[in-house]
Amino acid sequence: MTSSSPNIVAPPLDSDERPPTAILRGLKKHYFKPDGSILVEALRGLDLVIPAGQYCAIMGASGSGKSTLMNMLGCLDRPTAGQYLLDGIDVSGLDDTALSRARGSRIGFVFQAFNLISELTIVENVEVPLFYQGLPRAERHDRAVARLEMVGLADRLSHRPNELSGGQQQRVAIARSLVTNPAILMADEPTGNLDTATGDAILDIFDQLHAEGLTIIMVTHDPKVAERCQRIVMLEDGNLASDELVGDATP
Ligand SMILES: Nc1ncnc2c1ncn2[C@@H]1O[C@H](COP(=O)(O)OP(=O)(O)OP(=O)(O)O)[C@@H](O)[C@H]1O
Ligand SMILES: [Mg+2]
Repeated sequence: MTSSSPNIVAPPLDSDERPPTAILRGLKKHYFKPDGSILVEALRGLDLVIPAGQYCAIMGASGSGKSTLMNMLGCLDRPTAGQYLLDGIDVSGLDDTALSRARGSRIGFVFQAFNLISELTIVENVEVPLFYQGLPRAERHDRAVARLEMVGLADRLSHRPNELSGGQQQRVAIARSLVTNPAILMADEPTGNLDTATGDAILDIFDQLHAEGLTIIMVTHDPKVAERCQRIVMLEDGNLASDELVGDATP
């Protein structure tokens, strides 16, 4: 089913509803050659609205633009053209400092590779984003411990990443991504390096976070993983190929 209404209207300002987490209008991303000519049109004018609290999968063939889209949504990069409203705020034209501030306060990332710092204990790893926010040490520690408790690792605080299993390391990465209380959790193939049972345990955590109201956007190649989401957005060559609600689609 192709989306028939790209211009979904945001709720009125006096509503109690949260604004859509992400509104993309005509979003384009081109990569350029050194001479300034276009090398790749990675996103060709996407219109997409992701309501607050939605659990959305992004799928598509290799090279279809999934990571490029995640980089835009995650404020890691700016679009070549078009608009991106994050939580109702236009972030498409922000300078680097403002963009990285938006990223640090609004967005949590989980990747296929866990990207933990091997020299730090797991509680120190989870504290890192708060360190960049300049929080006092005691508060950093308390918030990191609370998030590690949430993912079931309270008894491993002083371990280092290489003393944990892959699934445990991914749980540390999830705790780290959430320690700043972001509006969106962006996950790029979060179960890609895990066996099915371990991956399912990670997806159980995502289910719980979704139930608590977090917006989750996840890139996956695995249809079984995507079916656990509420919505599947399919990209093809930088365009929206299909957009369908699946399963229990209550937002
Ligand atoms: N930094 C870059 N410079 C030039 N071209 C790029 C760059 N990053 C991505 N591309 C191109 O943009 C297109 C989309 O790439 P993207 O990484 O978004 O795909 P993807 O859907 O994430 O693929 P995969 O499933 O393999 O991760 C591809 O043609 C890719 O070669
Ligand atoms: Mg990719």
